[in-house]
Amino acid sequence: GKKWVLTVTAQTPTNIAVIKYWGKRDEDLILPINDSISVTLDPDHLCTTTSVAVSPAFTHDRMWLNGKEVSLSGGRYQNCLRELRSRASDVEDEEKGIKITKKDWEKLHVHVVSYNNFPTAAGLASSAAGLACLVFSLAKLMNVKEDHSKLSAIARQGSGSACRSLYGGFVKWIMGKEENGSDSIAVQLADEKHWDDLVIIIAVVSSRQKETSSTSGMRDTVETSMLIKHRAKEVVPKRIIQMEEAIKNRDFPAFARLTCADSNQFHAVCLDTLPPIFYMNDTSHRQEPFFNSSFINVIVPHFYLPIISCVEKWNRHEETPQVAYTFDAGPNAVLISHNRKAAALLLQRLLFYFPPQSDTDLNSYVIGDKTILK
Ligand code: PMV
Repeated sequence: GKKWVLTVTAQTPTNIAVIKYWGKRDEDLILPINDSISVTLDPDHLCTTTSVAVSPAFTHDRMWLNGKEVSLSGGRYQNCLRELRSRASDVEDEEKGIKITKKDWEKLHVHVVSYNNFPTAAGLASSAAGLACLVFSLAKLMNVKEDHSKLSAIARQGSGSACRSLYGGFVKWIMGKEENGSDSIAVQLADEKHWDDLVIIIAVVSSRQKETSSTSGMRDTVETSMLIKHRAKEVVPKRIIQMEEAIKNRDFPAFARLTCADSNQFHAVCLDTLPPIFYMNDTSHRQEPFFNSSFINVIVPHFYLPIISCVEKWNRHEETPQVAYTFDAGPNAVLISHNRKAAALLLQRLLFYFPPQSDTDLNSYVIGDKTILK
């Protein structure tokens, strides 16, 4: 009969790039102009939960994101669905008396229900978790017999950064050389246990949606910025090697230096774009003249915490860097602490200078109070 429904649910954490991806060499296949490296967050905090279902009663592919129906007609969703359908295999559920053959998948439709437990499209890589989870759960439902690296190449076609969320721990997205994108895949550099004293704190400065989508931002940058050419050719390749070393050796000072420098160069490249793109706001950015070197004792009668200068001063004040910051396509700060002690201090400061208030932008904190990678 037509009554059955088969479902799969999966959960995928988001990832935060420490060496950023910015700029495509192929917009349809989503092929980047440089390698990137990210860290996948703890799935308890920023993640997407997706349930996918198939039934002969479904007449169209449909999707709901955070309770609202969204269209699946976009090219990126379609590319992912097509890639997955073409690799689907037979599925059998004897208990329910279901048998789906490889050929059936061409005609069957799916329903997708997806929730983010964090602000969507606010520059917190919601698309990364979302597309990775969509591809992963559909691959399970359709019994796609491919390894994670192949699935990462499919997720990449949904959203570039999504390919890195197929793995936990530290992940590199290799830009690849092939025109068809077959070697533009994610690989795991180190698993979640490798460096588990790191703690990530995300200060949600604003949960508003970003004004410039990463797609149009990247396009404008690649078309108009000279700096991006220098970055992609001369800077990133060296940083990738250094970052891999830093991760391998758990070298926090090197890791922090590279992470902060790369975030700053990404935003510099945005500023070098015509028209310029501003992703950080005053809270992330503003120079705070009230701070002097021994920042522990300084009381700032100001509401805004200029996060970058704050961390820079703290790190200069300590013998070795204690915290790294990085910002994606939005004002929210991702702060990576050396260990729990540094994280506790950092959190104290954030909460002191930023008492969470519901009537302002600065209304919430998502705190990875566990090790990030567990
Ligand atoms: O995958 P997209 O199109 O959301 O682009 C992500 C771009 C950055 O988050 C700014 C950098 C990165 O590598 O994740």
